[in-house]
Amino acid sequence: MGASANEVKAFLERHYGEKKETLKQEAYQDLERTLTVEKIDVTLPGRTIPLGRLHPTTQIVRQICDIFVALGFQVVEGPEVEWDYYNFEALNIPADHPARDMFSTFWIDTESSERPMLLRTHTSPMQIRVMERTRPPVRVVVPGKVYRYEATDATHESMFYQLEGLAVDENITLADLKGTLFEFAKRLFGEERKVRFRCDYFPFVEPGVEVAIDCFACGGAGCRLCSGTGWLEILGAGMVHPDVLRRVNYDPDVYTGFAFGLGLERILMLRYGIDDVRLFYSNDTRFLRQF
Ligand code: PHE
Repeated sequence: MGASANEVKAFLERHYGEKKETLKQEAYQDLERTLTVEKIDVTLPGRTIPLGRLHPTTQIVRQICDIFVALGFQVVEGPEVEWDYYNFEALNIPADHPARDMFSTFWIDTESSERPMLLRTHTSPMQIRVMERTRPPVRVVVPGKVYRYEATDATHESMFYQLEGLAVDENITLADLKGTLFEFAKRLFGEERKVRFRCDYFPFVEPGVEVAIDCFACGGAGCRLCSGTGWLEILGAGMVHPDVLRRVNYDPDVYTGFAFGLGLERILMLRYGIDDVRLFYSNDTRFLRQF
């Protein structure tokens, strides 16, 4: 009995050992195969992940806001869908005013024609909104999109960006406007910039001015960028009209202020020599990648 039990034990042990050995071999071969077939060449260069970048307009908004923040201004934003009242009426542009021709408007259909609604044609309505909710001193800049119902061409888009500035306090004069914009021009376009003020008309300022800087491409001698004039017009500005102040319950005998509005694409076009405004928002990455 004992002898045959030993025989069985030896038989089982032998087969168990053999099977274990083959399984081990197979597992090893499997591993070999996996190592050759699924070999990873760690010396291959990695796949580059394309990195996005900030749109040139976003970059200039941030840069200009930084300049004005350093000068003591606060950055605020406002609605792109606006009441006629803020876009026109409160800015001395009543319904029959010829200055409405300056702004080709996208109107929004509403039930009531008593409170017409529109896409803001400039950032100036924020002058009113800011003054309605604060007392002087006011120092704000307002970047944002504006809309004009116009045929699109190399210098016109139906949507573009403006940056509005407003400062109201006691004893603010045209000299403060000039000093502020002079400092701004130097910080954005270079230390040696000159600033030129000329009379212009906007119903919500008196006096109104058109501001130009001496051409940074030719230094004022005259070139293609400045159409031979030596000057680049960059913004509209002026002293806030007393009627505008009265409308927001600011006493014009106590408070005065200045306002300005600049077109951001125009500044980018001048800075980079871009000749077609439509390039900014047609999302061609070959264009956008350059900034
Ligand atoms: N809102 C004016 C425009 O769009 C610019 C402007 C702003 C002029 C503030 C004077 C003062 O043309």
